[in-house]
Order: sequence, then C-alpha cells, then structure tokens
Amino acid sequence: MSSPGLPESPAEVARLLGTTGYLADDSLATVAWLALRMQRPLLLEGEPGTGKTSLAEALAAALGQPLVRLQCYEGIDATQALYDWDFPRQILHLRALEAVGAHDGTASVEEAEKSLYDERFLLARPVLAALQSSPAVLLVDEVDRADDEFEAFLLEVLSTYQVTIPELGTVTAATPPLVVLTSNRTRELHDALKRRCLYHWIDHPGLEREVEIVRCRAPEVSAALARQVVTLVQQLRLDEGLLKPPGVAETLDWARALTWLGTTELDLASAATTLGALVKYREDSDKVMAALDRVLAR
Ligand SMILES: Nc1ncnc2c1ncn2[C@@H]1O[C@H](COP(=O)(O)OP(=O)(O)OP(=O)(O)O)[C@@H](O)[C@H]1O
Ligand SMILES: [Mg+2]
Repeated sequence: MSSPGLPESPAEVARLLGTTGYLADDSLATVAWLALRMQRPLLLEGEPGTGKTSLAEALAAALGQPLVRLQCYEGIDATQALYDWDFPRQILHLRALEAVGAHDGTASVEEAEKSLYDERFLLARPVLAALQSSPAVLLVDEVDRADDEFEAFLLEVLSTYQVTIPELGTVTAATPPLVVLTSNRTRELHDALKRRCLYHWIDHPGLEREVEIVRCRAPEVSAALARQVVTLVQQLRLDEGLLKPPGVAETLDWARALTWLGTTELDLASAATTLGALVKYREDSDKVMAALDRVLAR
C-alpha cells in the first residue's frame, strides 16, 4: 500500500521533520503519518507555544508541498476562506465591454454577465487555493476562534474535499490536501468536526527534547546555557502556577535574549534583565523573580 512521495513509516515522518528542525516524538510522528495515509484531517490541541502551527509548516517543508494557511478569527466566514470575486476588476471589465459594445453594437446583456464570472476574476482564498494546488498542506490555524457556522462549513469541505462555485462549477482536489487544524481550546469544537479528524494533544516537551529543540532552533546558544534555561523553564511550568506558563517559543526567546547579552551562564542579574522574553504578565514576572531568587541565589 505504498503511494509515491509519501513517507513509508512514522519513523520516516520523524526523520523528515527533523531535517526541517522540527523534533517530533513518536506519538506525534505516528498520528501525522496516519493522517497522511488515511487522508484524514489532523486536529492538534495543546498549550500555547507547543509547536502546533510549526508542525504544519514543518510537514509542508518535509513533504516538499506548498503550505496554504488559513488564520481563523472571530467573524471569519466562507468568503474569506473559500473564494471571492474581484469586484473592481469586474467593473473595469464591464466598462471595457460597454465601450467596445457601444462602438460595434455587439453587446448582449447575457454574454456580458457571463463573462464577468470568468475564472480570471476569481480570487481563490486559502481553502480553494489548497484544493487547486493539491497535493498541499492546508493549515487551519486557531479554529477555536471561529464560530459554529464556520465550523459547519469546514466540516462540509473536509468531508468532500470539493467546493461548488455556482457560476463556475465544482472544484475537486486531485489529491486531498493534508489538513492540519490547530486549537488552543478557548472553546470546545463540535463532535462532528472532531469525528472527521485524527486528534492529538501536544504536551510541553520533556527536558531532553526541549534542550534538543533549543540546540536545533538556536544553535548560537551554548549547550550549558540551553540546559540551564530549559531546566528552569520546566520547573516554572510545573511549580509556580503562572497565569501563562512559558511555551517552547518563550524558552527559545529567552535563551536567544541571554545569548545576545553575552550570557554563558545564567545568573540573577541577566535573568532579571531578560525576563520580558519569558513571561508577559506582571504577576508572572513577580513569581518568576521569586523563583529565580530561590534557585539561582544558592
Ligand atoms: N517539537 C518542536 N521542534 C522544533 N521546534 C519547536 C517544537 N515545538 C515548538 N517549537 C518551536 O516553538 C515555537 C512555537 O511553536 P508554534 O508557534 O508552532 O506553537 P503553537 O502551538 O502554534 O502556539 P500557539 O498556540 O501560541 O499558536 C516555534 O518557534 C517552533 O519552531
Ligand atoms: Mg499557533
């Protein structure tokens, strides 16, 4: 059951992701491989900064396929996701027709109308673009921000991988795109959408993997500093009850900021001046400073 171009095993997916700098554990590599094999959308949930969005980017790079990104937000609707007509260009076209028609008397209302809905006036938004350019990776980012109707629309597209444009006909993907949906779980998604997808919760990485991620993404950071930073961040996530525990993104930012300042070993002063890379709430800063005081002042 091999199909050309698709990785042969979860281990191969992990290896390919690794070449793009994304380090996936076995369970994530397996679910991504299954999504590819079974042609099912992949729904990723997890704390902020755990690598949900970047998995889609890494998969596209690893597979050598284009990434089409749909950022969801409150109030997004099908026109922003699917297609729209280029109204200004249609008007210009109409003017041009009028000018020519008035001149040689060939204008017919019906024909003019028809010519307005030509493919060249179609603006393909991400979902249509992904169907047209498949094989592709379609990232539907932060789907929990969109509303119920939009979710229902997505469900329909993800069930058929086709879209009907009344004036033009039906567009079907030659190969269904690999769809990656991410959610920060600000609200629960509907069961119907979940049922369509393979689901994976991405946890914060363990110590060794996070050190590896820092070494890989920020090679300028010394091995010793990377380990010190990650050890501290892992402790902060577990113990301090922060409003917003730092994700991998913040670990990377903090390690980079320290390195910019020439720090090779973490101390209280350098930690204090770079704290803005790690925590973004005043209450958290206070807690982190107190924790650093305990750990580093020894
Ligand atoms: N497993 C990993 N391997 C390599 N880099 C990673 C990994 N996990 C996270 N990162 C890095 O951490 C940063 C944050 O990742 P990303 O933006 O994908 O998180 P997210 O889960 O989408 O966060 P949010 O919920 O805030 O959108 C990125 O720079 C990404 O490259
Ligand atoms: Mg994201």
